[in-house]
Amino acid sequence: MEIVIVENKAEAATIAADIVEAYAREGKTLGLATGSTPVGTYQELIRRHREAGLSFADCQAFLLDEYVGLPREHEQTYYQTIRREFTAHIDIEDAKVHSPDGTAEHPGEAARAYDASIKRAGGVDVQILGIGSDGHIGFNEPTSSLVSRTRIKTLHPDTVRDNARFFDGDESKVPHHVMTQGIGTIREARHLLLLAFGENKAEAVAAMVEGPVSAMCPASVLQMHEHVTVIVDQAAAAGLEHTQYYAYALENKPGWQRF
Ligand code: PGA
Repeated sequence: MEIVIVENKAEAATIAADIVEAYAREGKTLGLATGSTPVGTYQELIRRHREAGLSFADCQAFLLDEYVGLPREHEQTYYQTIRREFTAHIDIEDAKVHSPDGTAEHPGEAARAYDASIKRAGGVDVQILGIGSDGHIGFNEPTSSLVSRTRIKTLHPDTVRDNARFFDGDESKVPHHVMTQGIGTIREARHLLLLAFGENKAEAVAAMVEGPVSAMCPASVLQMHEHVTVIVDQAAAAGLEHTQYYAYALENKPGWQRF
């Protein structure tokens, strides 16, 4: 894992956008995440599109997850969120922005079909990830199978509480079920780019990077992946022990390409 500890979110957004830009230039498949964490990266990519002509026209994109039971027009569906925060502002064709169908009559089948559609598209080249304060990636809560596929999950009450801020602070409005790429699905992306900010992520980041690989911290599965970049601010890095080594390893990285 490459562990990059940055001064602030702006620096994280620049580095993450550099990484995503390299894939976009080659028309690769992007794995997108919602949540507050990647917003700065998306804004930087939109800026590069507008001001520097960065094109996403040859890309397609797959979202990690979706609430089950919210109508597609609802402003808090991830279908709407990713459009509002990113893809409506760049030149990717809307039909190439794929997400799990949380309105499907047969959600189990829809989940399997979504998983298969990622494979059919040749897989995800770079997957942007946030991390939950409980160590979840996508909506794979603690105790999720580390080889799980796209499926329906029940949200942990802590996650419902975390997400209530998007639903007028009212937990009763937050759907309790979601359709999420499984950990096994996420692991198949060729490059995982995880960002985390703030002190409430510090424990999860430490468990992910320096703890044992465990279903109790789903993000710890990143230790089993060949190409991972973790970008964290000082607050989210506060629980890490080997920070000096991570900085040293980055500075002394061989070759011209940093990531
Ligand atoms: P956040 O959510 O980016 O809003 O902190 C991350 C997550 O729950 O995966």
